[in-house]
Amino acid sequence: MFTINENYLKLPGSYLFSNIAKKVNAYTAANPDADIIRLGIGDVTRPLAPSVIRALHEAVDEMGDAATFHGYGPEQGYDFLKEKIVAYDFAPRGVKLDLDEIFISDGAKSDCGNIGDILGLDNVVAVCDPVYPVYVDTNAMAGRAGGYGADERWDKLIYMPCTAQNHFIPDLPAGKAPDLIYLCFPNNPTGSMISFEGLKKWVDYANEHGSLILYDSAYVAFISEDVPHSIYEIEGAKRCAIEFRSFSKTAGFTGTRCAYTVVPKELKCGEVSLNALWLRRQTTKFNGVPYIVQKGAAAIYSEQGQKEIRETVAYYMNNAKVIREGLAAAGFAVSGGVNAPYIWMKTPDGMTSWEFFDALLQKAQVVGTPGSGFGPSGEGYFRLTAFGTYENTVRAIERIKKVF
Ligand code: MLT
Repeated sequence: MFTINENYLKLPGSYLFSNIAKKVNAYTAANPDADIIRLGIGDVTRPLAPSVIRALHEAVDEMGDAATFHGYGPEQGYDFLKEKIVAYDFAPRGVKLDLDEIFISDGAKSDCGNIGDILGLDNVVAVCDPVYPVYVDTNAMAGRAGGYGADERWDKLIYMPCTAQNHFIPDLPAGKAPDLIYLCFPNNPTGSMISFEGLKKWVDYANEHGSLILYDSAYVAFISEDVPHSIYEIEGAKRCAIEFRSFSKTAGFTGTRCAYTVVPKELKCGEVSLNALWLRRQTTKFNGVPYIVQKGAAAIYSEQGQKEIRETVAYYMNNAKVIREGLAAAGFAVSGGVNAPYIWMKTPDGMTSWEFFDALLQKAQVVGTPGSGFGPSGEGYFRLTAFGTYENTVRAIERIKKVF
């Protein structure tokens, strides 16, 4: 008889955002007239940029003509997109990458999970706490997280608390060094951002201890201060880090799907190149992102394309300002929202994160994300996203101020 991957049975409940969607659906079913404002999952609301739409249409037409039709593409992505990525996302920051160090994919979420395929199951994993749940759940599925205890912690994971005391930036681990370290900056969920000096400490630490940093930079487009945009701006990072990037939030591709992962050729485990392993994995398990979608993504890399996506980012960051300043003026403790589209607020009156979620939904019909869903240190916090419409964002803050 066949067996299953029993690690799945250890997972608590469902994926955080599915759980929230279920709760909101139940509320809507019971209150069909409720005017719900969703500032929960970080899903974008602005349409794709006109340059992207134009490129998508052109690519569709190409697919309808035998002379320009495209079948299977390179699993790791077309050079026309990788060349633009190198030229626009890295060269201006002083980072030199070869095209074969970039792997186009359908999402940073999938890549953050799939990367585990090329890494040993005995690696000790460190995650920030709170953290984007994908890093934890995918390691639990692979068996690297151990068992899930009554204290709502996985017993083999190292949790690195990110609290108001450390400005939501993790401290270097004190004990035995972890093998795999997940870092996400600009941070999801706290909206914090790391400095050059802070990131250098991590890179030096990883190189000294032979650790691998899995650096999620999906929110890089929202940076407004003088901070690292890529981990490769730090000397030595190519020897110890993989970086994940995404078009989801940068260019509104949450429903269109395109991302990329950088695996430098300098990155080795002993003599083994991680770039070669990832190439082997991708060519075997993945057939690449559709030509049409890659054409759409490439369109953001022009003067006009950049102007258009920057306008959209500015729109969301204005929402972030509305949330941050509105809540702060009303006496809430808030952080984030300066280099990231997420605002991290302390729940009022000592409420737990889920108590606040329920109260907010019932009294204000506003949906956010409970901090405890991102990890034990998120308890007593709540995340709001700036990805709503401006009008809804203003209305949501007015409602929150009125009710609490
Ligand atoms: C979030 O809300 O944390 C993100 O939208 C989830 C994701 O990007 O997968």
